[in-house]
Amino acid sequence: MAVLIDTHAHLDFPQYSKDLELVLERAHTAGVKAVLNAGADEKSSERSIRLSEKYPYISSSVGIHPHGAARVKSGWIQRLEKMAAGKTVLAVGETGLDFYRDLSPRDIQELVFREHIGLACRVKKPLIIHTREAHQATLKVLKEEELPSPAGVMHCFSGSREQVERYLDLGFYISFAGPLTYPRSHELREALKAVPSNRLLLETDAPYLPPQAYRSKRNEPAYISLIYERAALELGISLEVLAEQVYLNALRLFSDLLVDRI
Ligand code: NI
Repeated sequence: MAVLIDTHAHLDFPQYSKDLELVLERAHTAGVKAVLNAGADEKSSERSIRLSEKYPYISSSVGIHPHGAARVKSGWIQRLEKMAAGKTVLAVGETGLDFYRDLSPRDIQELVFREHIGLACRVKKPLIIHTREAHQATLKVLKEEELPSPAGVMHCFSGSREQVERYLDLGFYISFAGPLTYPRSHELREALKAVPSNRLLLETDAPYLPPQAYRSKRNEPAYISLIYERAALELGISLEVLAEQVYLNALRLFSDLLVDRI
């Protein structure tokens, strides 16, 4: 069976409080070898680290989702920096800009985003970036700031071919989630084809955005096989070849620690 990696999930969220063990068991059965659990605020980042310390196949990242940018408490960046030093913490994020839901004022989102980029450089870990309806502003920030090396990943990508090119130029990997399988996602599938094989990642973003077969249900890492299948179909390669590429890309970006503790 092909080895699958879910490079972005939120298993620390309350949606899994009752049956996480079963969720992990199903992921294992589906061939998922590693999950990167992304922090979404301070508490979630702490929970994410705890998960990664408990389960060797879970790694973590620490960050504040742009939705919560206006709710950060003073000293947050110092506390995040302390957390980011952890051995099981492989990235900084998710951070970025969301002008679709605008749950935090845009100027505050941008400020908090820039702080994350500085942090990523200091701790020498890649960024996990969330951007929605904010490509222009995101690209502007990324061009103005010094970036870590490797730069990071555009998670749950939702842009065009042209936008793919711009993020690639900045050194980013591009990660696709469940929307790749949605009937109307023609533009997204075109964007997928613009990503070179050595820059492609896949993720569930669970509990959100389940693949088409599970629309309206809670998403979970086991379902990532459907995203691999659709991506392989679109790219005209076998699932095994795609899985090998994504595996190598994930390790190159996030370090071998993604699987080393297993
Ligand atoms: Ni996320």
